[in-house]
Amino acid sequence: MTDTTTRTTAASRLFTPARLGPLHLPNRLVMAPLTRNRATADGVPTPMMATYYAQRASAGLIIAEASTPNAVGQTYPNITAIHNAAHVAGWRQVTDAVHAAGGRMFLQLQHGGRVGHPDNSGLVPLAPSPIPLPETIHTPSGRRPAVVPREMTSDDIRTTVADFAAAARNALAAGFAGVEVHSANGHLLHQFLAKNTNHRTDAYGGTVAGRIRFVAEVVRAVADAIGPDRVGLRISPGNTVNGIQEDDTDDIYPALIAALADSGLAYLHVAFADPDQPVYQEIRKHWPGTLIANPVLPDPLPADGGRHESERLLSAGADLIALGRPFLANPDLVARLRTHAPLNPVRSKYLMYVGGETGYTDYPSLPAR
Ligand SMILES: Cc1cc2nc3c(=O)[nH]c(=O)nc-3n(C[C@H](O)[C@H](O)[C@H](O)COP(=O)(O)O)c2cc1C
Repeated sequence: MTDTTTRTTAASRLFTPARLGPLHLPNRLVMAPLTRNRATADGVPTPMMATYYAQRASAGLIIAEASTPNAVGQTYPNITAIHNAAHVAGWRQVTDAVHAAGGRMFLQLQHGGRVGHPDNSGLVPLAPSPIPLPETIHTPSGRRPAVVPREMTSDDIRTTVADFAAAARNALAAGFAGVEVHSANGHLLHQFLAKNTNHRTDAYGGTVAGRIRFVAEVVRAVADAIGPDRVGLRISPGNTVNGIQEDDTDDIYPALIAALADSGLAYLHVAFADPDQPVYQEIRKHWPGTLIANPVLPDPLPADGGRHESERLLSAGADLIALGRPFLANPDLVARLRTHAPLNPVRSKYLMYVGGETGYTDYPSLPAR
C-alpha cells in the first residue's frame, strides 16, 4: 500500500460512523473537553453554554468540559460542577439544546486535588500528599501562590470515590449519555499515579499497584453507578503539566490498563497521543476497547486543523480522534475538515478561559450550501 493510499483510506474513516457504548456516532471526530469558565460562581452552566455546545453538535461526540464532583474538587473560578440540583438543571438546558441540534454528549468529571485554592472553593484542597503545586493559581483576585493541600485520609478517599459515583448519576439525570473520568493533566487522579505527588505509605501509594488503586476504584465505582458502557477514562501518559513527574510512565499506564481492561468501559482517551511513542503503542496493543486519541498539535494550530495528525493516529489504530482548539474556533469543524475548507484561528488565548459571548459563541460557521 502506498503512502497516498494509506492517507486516503484513513481520511475517509474520519467521517465514517462508529459505535461508542450506547451511542451511534455519525463520524469519528470528538470534541475534547475544554474548560471555558463561563459557569456561574457556583458552577451552574449558563444559557450561553447551551448555545456554544449546540453550535458544535455535528461532532461525533462532545465531551463537555471538566466538572467538579464535589465542592473541594473545584480548580478555578467559574468552572462547572455537577454535585447539586442546580448544576443538574443547568446542564439539562445544555444537553437539551445539543440533542435538539442532533448531537451527543458525555461530561468530564474532574477533581482538581492540589490544583485548587481556598479563594476559589472556600476549602483547603485535598491531595494524595501535602505537596503544593509549584505554580501560582488563578483566583478571582488574580494569580495567587498555591497552598499546601491536606493529605487525604482513608475516609476522604471513600467519600471522594462516592462523590464521583454520585456525580456520574447526576450527569445522567442531566441528560448526558455518559461520563469521562479525568485522570490526566495533573489533577487529583493523576496526582495519585505520579511519584512526585504521591508520597503515601498506605495502600494508595508506593508501588505501581498502590498508585493506580485510587484511579481504578473511582472508575469501578462510576461504572457500577451508571454502567461501564457509559464511562470513559482520560489519561495523559508522561505529561508534566501542573508539576507532574511520573518517572515510571512505562510501568504505570500498562498496569492501569491491565487493571481496567476487562471492565467493559466505553473508551480510553489518551491526551497528547503520539503514535511514535512506545507507551502509546503499548496502550493501543493492550487496551481491548475503543481508543480515543487526542493528537499533539502545535500552537498556533496547523492550517489543516490537525487533520493529517488525526489520520496518522487512525492509521496507527485509534478508533476516534479528539480535537480541542480546532473545535473551540470552528463550530462546524467536521464539515470544514471534510471539505478541506479554511479554518478560523483561535482568536485570543485570554478569551479561552475568561469572558462572555466574545471569543466563545461568536466564532462563525461557513454559510450552509
Ligand atoms: C481552553 C482549554 C481548556 C481545556 N480544558 C480541559 C478540560 O477541561 N479537561 C481536559 O481534560 N483537558 C482540557 N484541555 C486540554 C484539551 O482537552 C486538549 O487535550 C488540548 O487542548 C490539546 O488538544 P488540541 O491541540 O486539539 O487543542 C483544555 C485545553 C484548552 C486549550
